[in-house]
Amino acid sequence: MIHDQKFLPFSLPDITEVEIQEVVETLRSGWVTTGPKARQFEQDFITFLGDETLEAIAVNSATSGLHLALEAVGVQAGDEVIVPTYTFTATAEVVRYLGAHPVFVDSDPNTYCIDPVLIEAAITTKTKAIIPVHFAGLSADMDAILSIAKQHKLKVIEDAAHAFPTKYKGDLIGTLQSDATVFSFYANKTMTTGEGGMLVSRDKALIKRAKVMRLHGISRDAFDRYQSKTPAWFYEVIEPGYKYNLPDICAAIGVQQLKRINEFQKKRELLAEAYHEALKDLPIILPFVANKEAGHQHAWHLYPIQLTAGAGISREDFIIQMSKFGIGCSVHFIPLHKHPVWRDMYHLQPEHFPVAEQLYAHEVSIPLFTKMTTEDQSRIINSLKKILSGDGAA
Ligand SMILES: Cc1ncc(COP(=O)(O)O)c(C=O)c1O
Repeated sequence: MIHDQKFLPFSLPDITEVEIQEVVETLRSGWVTTGPKARQFEQDFITFLGDETLEAIAVNSATSGLHLALEAVGVQAGDEVIVPTYTFTATAEVVRYLGAHPVFVDSDPNTYCIDPVLIEAAITTKTKAIIPVHFAGLSADMDAILSIAKQHKLKVIEDAAHAFPTKYKGDLIGTLQSDATVFSFYANKTMTTGEGGMLVSRDKALIKRAKVMRLHGISRDAFDRYQSKTPAWFYEVIEPGYKYNLPDICAAIGVQQLKRINEFQKKRELLAEAYHEALKDLPIILPFVANKEAGHQHAWHLYPIQLTAGAGISREDFIIQMSKFGIGCSVHFIPLHKHPVWRDMYHLQPEHFPVAEQLYAHEVSIPLFTKMTTEDQSRIINSLKKILSGDGAA
């Protein structure tokens, strides 16, 4: 580091005394695994989404939520599920958990989200579902995706790991007409429970199935056994299920984070706007801005920029220089077709994914988190400008 300043990480969770107190109370309550707090978190989540026809299931990660959703809509061995290549591996790995095959599709060059035209081209008689990802917190083109799904009778499971609270044409992600939506509360997400996720759907059969599979395929959960009149020791295993429940200790954090989520979104949006303004004349491509007048809202989980040829520095060197200024950056994403597992399993060639290839070569995510101060942001902007003007650290 060239300055004596504290290292500014890529991301930090925004935890206050309120969350800490809620966890302490939960620890003292005598009930630490999934129970009243998880139920409250699920109910509060639905209240936030503002649609009582929906149901929410708290899970221990978005990955487990995606797995449960795919399983519950009936994805089976040999089926195909369309996913973007420009995502995190969780989006595709859950498809393999079920013995089905992810089919990788390139992105739209402006939004970086999955390209609906390419979805249509990838559909075969084996296609069962589509998993759009709302990259960085910007909604994918859901009208087009839902219409393709309807036409071809496909299920749609939204990977909304980045997208809380994102709006598409005035409606919150989670309330659209897809089969299910899954959010992540991993440590670096727009709100956190440490690890955690939420599966949301208005399909009663899907919810029923996912609830059973969330806890070992047992017909009743531990809290129900504790509360109901049927003897607590009695349960029946009706499926070989999973262990995907969210403990109350984590749900306690979620209950409090949820109360602050609109404040978080506003803060993130202000930081993003300050970046747009400060960086607009530099040789970089700024992230796509959703049209607010059309009712779109960006959750701004990430602030992805692309360094153009005019920047005169490679992405790798830029990240090294930023770290010398004491600033952590990241890359979203290494496209899935470039990872050995997916590349080799499905013989994927870079030329089939020109947009993701171009993005990956030039993309850097600069820090964007709610605990960031104006001074922190100025430091990031100034360091970035110095580096691009050739005045970086030795
Ligand atoms: C697009 C996407 N989907 C799914 C996940 C998985 O989320 P989790 O860590 O909650 O399982 C992530 C995590 O970063 C992600 O970026």
